[in-house]
Amino acid sequence: MAAAVAMSMALATMKASSSSSSSLSPPPAQAGLPMRSIPGTYGWPLLGPLSDRLDYSWFQGPEKFFRARIDKYKSTVFRTNVPPSFPFFFDVNPNVVALLDTESFSHLFDMDNIDKRDVLVGDFMPSVKYTGNLRVCAYLDTSEPKHAQLKGFALDILKRSSKVWQTEVISNLDVMWDTIEAGVAKDGSASVFVPTQKFLFNFLCKSITGADPASLAKVAEYGYEMLDLWLALMILPTVPIDVFQPLPEIFLHSWQYPFALVSGRYNTMFEFVENYGAEAVERGKTQFGLTKEEAIHNLLFILGFNAFGGFSIFIPTLLSTILSDKTGLQEKLREEVRGKVGTTGVIDFESVKEMELVKSVVYETLRLNPPVPLQYGRARKDFQLKSHDSVFDIKKGELLCGYQKLVMKDPKVFDNPETFVPDRFVRNPELLNYLFWSNGPQTGTPAESNKQCAAKDYVPMTAFLMVAYMFRRYDSFSVGSSGSITSVKKASS
Ligand code: HEM
Repeated sequence: MAAAVAMSMALATMKASSSSSSSLSPPPAQAGLPMRSIPGTYGWPLLGPLSDRLDYSWFQGPEKFFRARIDKYKSTVFRTNVPPSFPFFFDVNPNVVALLDTESFSHLFDMDNIDKRDVLVGDFMPSVKYTGNLRVCAYLDTSEPKHAQLKGFALDILKRSSKVWQTEVISNLDVMWDTIEAGVAKDGSASVFVPTQKFLFNFLCKSITGADPASLAKVAEYGYEMLDLWLALMILPTVPIDVFQPLPEIFLHSWQYPFALVSGRYNTMFEFVENYGAEAVERGKTQFGLTKEEAIHNLLFILGFNAFGGFSIFIPTLLSTILSDKTGLQEKLREEVRGKVGTTGVIDFESVKEMELVKSVVYETLRLNPPVPLQYGRARKDFQLKSHDSVFDIKKGELLCGYQKLVMKDPKVFDNPETFVPDRFVRNPELLNYLFWSNGPQTGTPAESNKQCAAKDYVPMTAFLMVAYMFRRYDSFSVGSSGSITSVKKASS
């Protein structure tokens, strides 16, 4: 049933997205849906936001928080508050309209109705001191001319780095898996955490900025830690932490963090890109009309926040999904990869295109664990917003908040929505129209006139390369209870 609904909705969306690559519009309105006023409340001033903040970050956690309110209001669209809030966020308004099904969420892609100015992580915006006193691409709305310049720059970086990207992924995977293998041989087990962080930093830095981390010893050694700290200080007030409560609530979620804590490290990264990434910076200046500062701060944000931040969440989840599987997934992936490239064939963007199960496993991981779970957008004007079963009046200026982790389990679109189904997207490729991890459907096209992730194709492609590499090199892997790798079986044929 869900698959049938999905198919007909998919066709409607495909028509919509093929006619326009810029505004990724929601499907056309279905006649006869009842109008409903938006249920839910923001509560008493200060107390409502504080109570919701404690539920969200501590008592319930985000998923239960949104699910409990869907049940309470019998609606996937309702009013609530999201952190950060009281006491020291005086100028942050925590009131949002939550969107929790595929239909209502897809309104966020409609640039005619949605303004994306400064709402990357909600009404709260980290200080621009973290980005050289500039509002970088991800904070700009499509109506701001600078957005087109910077998005064009981001798309160009990816296009030009395509070859380097593939070879850097593979050569850094060699290093990553050599390290893990040596750790297992020496100590009986090896964590994938640090090798993964180094792998991501090294290949992303080279591909995005053109600068080789090996050119500067402290960047080669500590570059990934510098970015981790810079990123964490920016977004800590918004990140739920489910251990040692109430300490994180009191001490970590109550105020912003001064840039001074990381300014030395950030300046090191700035100078590194200035000195060793000169070609990319020059291209930003000559082809896209950027100043040197705009080019470097945007390169650093793309590298550190968009790319390294996103992959640092996504890749560990992908690895743990595959490594901890007990249903025979490793055997099936191995069979597919070996069938296409054996143990010595080339792994690149071209050869992985044929690996249907590898691709589906990556997409299914992105569906169940979208690395950027929340997307925000402010109503540009009054408009009517549809969920699957109702229509709501949205007023100009209201902040909409989509929580993808629930949206991607929409039972009207995905059969067995809570279950990891490795071949879900092999069986029904139309479901890619509903895979929204990139702030747009996987079938959409990132453009200067929309806010879809510039790397909508590069992110899954990189993951395809990783999975294919693993099963070209190894027959199987075992993990211990801590998630560390305890043994690897080298490829036998
Ligand atoms: C797993 C990795 C990644 C994830 C999960 C991810 C996710 C996202 C999401 C959800 C957005 C939209 C945010 C919003 O406006 O609400 C976004 C925007 C963006 N991403 Fe990615 N991203 C990833 C990797 C990358 C990489 C590798 C690049 C570039 C090389 C990149 C470049 C961008 C840019 C430039 C934007 C801003 C788009 C705009 O302003 O129009 N991302 N990304």
